[in-house]
Amino acid sequence: MASTSRRWWWWPWATPPPFSSSASRHHKGEGWGLGGPALVKAVGWLLLAGLLFRVLCSFPSSTSSPEISEGKCNLFDGEWIPNPSGPAYTNKTCRFIDGHQNCMLNGRPDMSYLHWRWKPYECELPQFDEVRFLSAMRNKSWGLIGDSILRNQVQSLLCLLSKAEEPIEVYHDKEYRNRRWHFQSYNFTVSLVWSPFLTKSEVFENENGQSTSEIQLHLDILDPIWTSQYETFDYVVIAGGQWFLKVAVYWENDRVIGCHYCQDKKLRELGFEHLYRRTLQQVFRFIASSNHKPAVLFRTWAPDHFENAEWFNGGTCSRVLPYKKGEYSGKDMDRIMRPIELEEFRNAMAALGGSRNSANLKLLDTYSISSMRPDGHVGPYRYPFLKGDKDAKSVQNDCLHWCVPGPIDAWNDLVMKMVLG
Ligand SMILES: *[C@@H]1O[C@H](CO)[C@@H](O)[C@H](O)[C@H]1NC(C)=O
Ligand SMILES: *[C@@H]1O[C@H](CO)[C@@H](O)[C@H](O)[C@H]1NC(C)=O
Ligand SMILES: *[C@@H]1O[C@H](CO)[C@@H](O)[C@H](O)[C@H]1NC(C)=O
Repeated sequence: MASTSRRWWWWPWATPPPFSSSASRHHKGEGWGLGGPALVKAVGWLLLAGLLFRVLCSFPSSTSSPEISEGKCNLFDGEWIPNPSGPAYTNKTCRFIDGHQNCMLNGRPDMSYLHWRWKPYECELPQFDEVRFLSAMRNKSWGLIGDSILRNQVQSLLCLLSKAEEPIEVYHDKEYRNRRWHFQSYNFTVSLVWSPFLTKSEVFENENGQSTSEIQLHLDILDPIWTSQYETFDYVVIAGGQWFLKVAVYWENDRVIGCHYCQDKKLRELGFEHLYRRTLQQVFRFIASSNHKPAVLFRTWAPDHFENAEWFNGGTCSRVLPYKKGEYSGKDMDRIMRPIELEEFRNAMAALGGSRNSANLKLLDTYSISSMRPDGHVGPYRYPFLKGDKDAKSVQNDCLHWCVPGPIDAWNDLVMKMVLG
């Protein structure tokens, strides 16, 4: 297991451990490895953080945010209903699917996960219309800013759009983290911007995803990779995610202010909650104060569905059906990150007030619809998988990223609806 597991988070598919660093520290040989006592400490810390209290008292339901409803219909409150016609594209018709998320190609035997569509209770969510979308986007430019979950969404977007026209890749960096595609006959540009922390960061990972030193994060400086391009975008999708849980040293005003789970360092423990909240405040402040006014969709936390164990010790996701409304209430980490997002988004909207700016910022609240799809993850089908040759537990499962095609296509249906009405 060691050699494949070590490559699990390997760039360019790399994401951080989807779980708290407490978990990852248990995993020897992964470069995050620390000791056992840290886990105990971490659990204690979580409890001290008053997590349970908040979980029980104030987890906002998906219907409790008036600002996320689109006019009369809350697009994010609904259920998955059977869709006999299946996905809009397949592994045969789309060439933009990463090998690690190409579940069809990698031999996922059940196809039922492809036969559901999202139905908001109060309205219909139309299927993505690639011709209509591209026509409306003539001469426009999109920037999609975030981590590998965002890249997951971009694959889906490119697959949906390429039914009308295949884009050409006009830019990529050496490591294919930042990429740009151009749809020639529409003069439409899609940019994928790799910025997992959204703030300025120094990451010391070798190509096996092993950390050689703690990540250094500058909480008061946004990542120039996206702020420098911001003015070129007419539309922006931006999101945080699992990277915020990593072991890191936090900086402000050019000095170290603390750390998250650093060992052997006499630094103040600053939980990742502080980091996440602070980062979102900065991001929203930037959006509000910039003279450039693209339409910005802030995408919410992406839930994982590891069961029985976690990502590093044999957790799996073998369900083949969506959850029904109310059947599943998420994981502890969801209940930490999501309220931070909703609070900071509300604060940002309140600060924008009734100004014309507020119309430019919207919540792309994919959390609830995604949390109802434990069946839609890559699971063991990250690599070509031969039935009978292996069983799902013998390979490291990916219960964080989504099969393409899969439920993540609905995220783009939502984008289309939110942007084009
Ligand atoms: C698509 O997936 C199927 C399995 O569902 C596989 O047989 C086929 O080779 C794949 N095709 C392409 C072009 O990847
Ligand atoms: C797109 O840009 C071209 C060249 O600047 C212009 O002629 C055309 O009218 C534009 N189309 C739209 C829909 O803005
Ligand atoms: C393409 O769109 C850009 C704006 O995004 C515009 O400046 C340019 O003139 C357009 N080119 C053509 C050939 O329409």
